[in-house]
Amino acid sequence: MADTVVVTPTGRPAAGTLRVPSDKSLTHRGILLAVLAEGQSVIDRPLHAADIAASIRAARAFGAVVDVGPDRLVVEGPGIGQLREPADVIDAGNSGTTIRLAAGLAATVRGVSVFTGDASLRRRPMARVLEPLGRLGARALARGGGFAPFAIRGGALSGGVVELPVASAQVKSAVLLAGLAANGPVTVVEPLPSRDHTERLLARMGAQVRADGTRVTVEPGFLRPLTFTVPGDPSSAAFWWVAAAITGGQVVTPEVLLNPARVGLLDVLEEAGARVRVAVEQEAPEPVGTVSVTGPDRLRPVAVEGPAVPALVDELPLVAVLAALGHGTSTVRGARELRVKESDRIAAMAEGLGRLGARITEEPDGWTIVGPARLRGAVVESRGDHRIAMALAVAAAAAEGPTRIRGAEAVAVSYPSFWDALAETGTALVAPAR
Ligand code: S3P
Repeated sequence: MADTVVVTPTGRPAAGTLRVPSDKSLTHRGILLAVLAEGQSVIDRPLHAADIAASIRAARAFGAVVDVGPDRLVVEGPGIGQLREPADVIDAGNSGTTIRLAAGLAATVRGVSVFTGDASLRRRPMARVLEPLGRLGARALARGGGFAPFAIRGGALSGGVVELPVASAQVKSAVLLAGLAANGPVTVVEPLPSRDHTERLLARMGAQVRADGTRVTVEPGFLRPLTFTVPGDPSSAAFWWVAAAITGGQVVTPEVLLNPARVGLLDVLEEAGARVRVAVEQEAPEPVGTVSVTGPDRLRPVAVEGPAVPALVDELPLVAVLAALGHGTSTVRGARELRVKESDRIAAMAEGLGRLGARITEEPDGWTIVGPARLRGAVVESRGDHRIAMALAVAAAAAEGPTRIRGAEAVAVSYPSFWDALAETGTALVAPAR
């Protein structure tokens, strides 16, 4: 894929049935949880993307044998207490989920594990995971007091209650994985509930996990191997839902994950006046179904506040796009976490949407957006962040004239076929920049 792509709107609404790539959060967990089960785990329809390659490297570093097929991953885990001390530094690339969940695995190893990542990941906060693991007895040394590269010496872990200052499924998961190897139950308390995929998969693997709102407790114990099929990623389907909403089109996305902790965007789309239809086709281990979104004649403004944030945290750049075209003033607040994602997403969207002509003001913890803007093609930057590249591409499809998106190759992190899929919706032409 070219570093810069040109998105030229066709003036036609986004339409069609789009099968989106498999869920990234679930594929990461399938691989990394399988390391803790002794025996063969089978993960059908995994996501194949750069972030997942990072989790496979981490699993192998701890002694798992991972066989990668086109539609199936087979992971032969060493099992709890038998992970190998990695022979080399684990490079998690751009993947926050890999480095933080694998830090939880490292806490179970009687030896030293060393982690690094790309320039973006080395700027992201790691004290939030190293401190809680430290409370269970793992020792950590990190650059600059809390950044990768860092080293963890794991081993004898004790149970206890760990309170997290920010809601984070990555940190919660790391603590739960370490807790399986502790000498007593481990409880994690979050300020708001975050996505619960780890709890659901651990229960399926035979772990004793109890969740009660913002408190989750795991008992130490062994895991059975895991067998499951990964549904489509709602965070990828979200681009097409919003594309339909802002172009007055209709898209259908079959077989997507519908975990309520992941699909908060659907409520915001309804608030904006879009018609949302959900048909649930499976309930366990995760709800899965078909979502169809139809754009209204006139978009209304929206308001997103702190408690709603965890269920749509990765979709907030798209909420900004939706808001830019809503008739009135929209607000997003309580989303300071966006500043420490793959890029500072508050600044990245304020800059990119601003260049396209949106009236967007950056706030410390979100944005104020006055719509509707008449968007015009411009030159915008992904800042190396997959979700920024894709959200700006959706905005560009509703603009007048072509937009050049720099850093377009970032989509490989979660949605390698994104540019083809955008063209498939019919709402824009996509070409590499000459
Ligand atoms: C993820 C959790 C979220 C999310 C990230 C994936 C996960 O991060 O933003 O893209 O798979 O657990 P936090 O745990 O930092 O909130």
